[in-house]
Amino acid sequence: PNLDQMGGDGSGLRRVGCRAKGGSPGFKVAILGAAGGIGQPLAMLMKMNPLVSVLHLYDVANAPGVTADISHMDTSAVVRGFLGQPQLEEALTGMDLVIIPAGVPRKPGMTRDDLFNINAGIVRTLSEAIAKCCPKAVVNIISNPVNSTVPIAAEVFKKAGTFDPKKLMGVTMLDVVRANTFVAEVMSLDPREVDVPVVGGHAGVTILPLLSQVKPPCSFTQKEIEYLTDRIQNGGTEVVEAKAGAGSATLSMAYAAVKFADACLRGLRGDANIVECAFVSSHVTELPFFASKVRLGRSGIDEVYGLGPLNEYERIGLEKAKKELGGSIEKGVTFVKK
Ligand code: NAI
Repeated sequence: PNLDQMGGDGSGLRRVGCRAKGGSPGFKVAILGAAGGIGQPLAMLMKMNPLVSVLHLYDVANAPGVTADISHMDTSAVVRGFLGQPQLEEALTGMDLVIIPAGVPRKPGMTRDDLFNINAGIVRTLSEAIAKCCPKAVVNIISNPVNSTVPIAAEVFKKAGTFDPKKLMGVTMLDVVRANTFVAEVMSLDPREVDVPVVGGHAGVTILPLLSQVKPPCSFTQKEIEYLTDRIQNGGTEVVEAKAGAGSATLSMAYAAVKFADACLRGLRGDANIVECAFVSSHVTELPFFASKVRLGRSGIDEVYGLGPLNEYERIGLEKAKKELGGSIEKGVTFVKK
């Protein structure tokens, strides 16, 4: 099939200029790995986002099917599909935001780092194409291990001379989404009103919820703190085990990815006070990358916020997180440099 026509039926009967009435500016968004467990619901939700005018769906498998399916939704974004490496550059050209959920997920018993050997190469290849075709795009990396894949993308961009720390973000939003949900459960609150900062990274002990800074202010018992910290850090494993070999979080991840991507797009549009947690290039600790709250704006990340006051329990957690995170960052950097 002529994939460039995907989103229409290839008849050539679409009248140019009929779309996008209503005057919304609209952003061009590409999803790389769009036919996967995360990619499909993510593509569906992005098709529903009124800030998106063009949606490019790229995968090495099944992109035509997913594209044909999603393109029938009666929302304004124009959907196009791209299959395999020869169409990668076309998929990326002109994009404002690139979201990457490409790569293998965990099976029971695996850590995120066990995915490194396969996913590192995938993220490197995709990042090289981004550097070439849309070096100014905001990039949201979902592929695990995020603690290493974000440094990999940064190194690729540095090599290409296109690295802009304001544009590269590892998506840790699912940790925040889980933290909000679990805290709301324990405190009998509406999860939509709960805001838990989660800092550090996106794997095990590097996931550091700051329960002392929860909004609305909550006072937890030590038992509650330990239960919540453990559940937030192992929320991904909870899903991997429940799915018993059929993959990791996909639906909650797609929800979280869209929440974060929408925040990025509202920032690009110029909305004020868009603040979310993400794993970014950072001076908040001595590590070159760290997840913390960031303010999103017209240039991507407009400001990286510090951690705020931590209690003793969180300070101990921070030291543990930094130890593991440093190694994971180094592993990513070395992978590109070697
Ligand atoms: P999946 O296996 O269902 O889908 C992955 C998709 O990537 C497949 O459609 C596959 O064809 C595609 N793909 C493989 N190589 C590719 C390449 N070179 N270029 C483009 N596409 C390629 O996996 P799932 O469940 O969607 O997970 C994807 C990734 O997201 C995994 O690495 C997983 O660990 C990670 N993840 C991250 C989370 C986070 O919080 N950041 C949460 C959950 C998962």
